[in-house]
Amino acid sequence: MQELESRNEAALAAIAAAQTPDELEAMRVEALGKQGWITLALKTLGGMSPDERQVAGPRIQGIRAAVSDALAARKQVLEDALLEQRLASETLDLTLPAPAAPRGSVHPVSQVMDELAEIFADLGFSVATGPEIEDDWHNFTALNMAETHPARAMHDTFYFPDADSDGRKMLLRTHTSPVQIRSMVAQGAPIRIIAPGRVYRSDSDATHTPMFHQVEGLVIDRDIHLGHLKWTLETFLKGFFERDDIVLRLRPSYFPFTEPSVEVDVGWQDVKGRRVLGGDGDAPGHGWMELLGSGMVNRKVIEFAGLDPDEWQGFAFGVGVDRLAMLKYGMDDLRAFFDGDNRWLAHYGFSAFDQPTLSAGVGARA
Ligand code: PHE
Repeated sequence: MQELESRNEAALAAIAAAQTPDELEAMRVEALGKQGWITLALKTLGGMSPDERQVAGPRIQGIRAAVSDALAARKQVLEDALLEQRLASETLDLTLPAPAAPRGSVHPVSQVMDELAEIFADLGFSVATGPEIEDDWHNFTALNMAETHPARAMHDTFYFPDADSDGRKMLLRTHTSPVQIRSMVAQGAPIRIIAPGRVYRSDSDATHTPMFHQVEGLVIDRDIHLGHLKWTLETFLKGFFERDDIVLRLRPSYFPFTEPSVEVDVGWQDVKGRRVLGGDGDAPGHGWMELLGSGMVNRKVIEFAGLDPDEWQGFAFGVGVDRLAMLKYGMDDLRAFFDGDNRWLAHYGFSAFDQPTLSAGVGARA
């Protein structure tokens, strides 16, 4: 016992003098490790008579507690000192300029969406959103595509295995048009919204990816006609491409949710009236780029959304955001949009400080 007491005193002194965590750890193993002197001393208790044990037990336990408390206390002191040292050496000079290397950029898709929001805000449109996981009532039925409608098959829809609690099939929305329904149901009429967002179709090549982006536009009011649609699209595209020589070609088309439906191609012409987009001038069938689908909202859709189609009319359009970005900023492979390649992002990305504004130009380059 006497020997243990003096070892204890020596150990406590050594612990108090330890200079590094490594030294402390060595001392812990020497005392409390499997072969440590305190561990071994505790083992001798088993061979003692009950009377001896009653005296020796508490003393050895006391030594064990004293040594481990001293280890913990010294460890804390050493760690505090280390932290103090680091805090003193690692100063942060807030007057230094930010490093150039890890600077991020705004993705062209985000940039184009910001540009569209800015252009349409100026025309009195607000931005609406809807869920990417939709039910088939909002994505199809309420847009005048009944269960058996052939147009459903054209959408290459990703379905979920389970229906929702109302028995509606769940899917990844194939277009932003369900936001038309949600907006009319939620806010009634009149309405002026755009709805940008992700859409999904099971389709993949250089110009199609399973996920892409659309912006929906919807205007519902009294006495709205096709002229309002044409003027709105023209104003939007001139603002977006930042040139006044944009010409539109409206072609009759078909969408179940618009009647009549109009597909819109865009072309540019030079001062002599020659079309220049696509570089094919007046070559037949060239110089026009199919850009968007649109039309007057089908009265059945207005009814599905709970409004009276004799009182409210309107137009809607849907346009591919990725395609708008490619046309304006000159990328040719859609797939690269979603590779997350830093070199591509550094080249085509925009500065976060460059907010698109109508006064400064909606598409200022980074
Ligand atoms: N939703 C259609 C599509 O994805 C586009 C569209 C929107 C057409 C609104 C007309 C009106 O192809």
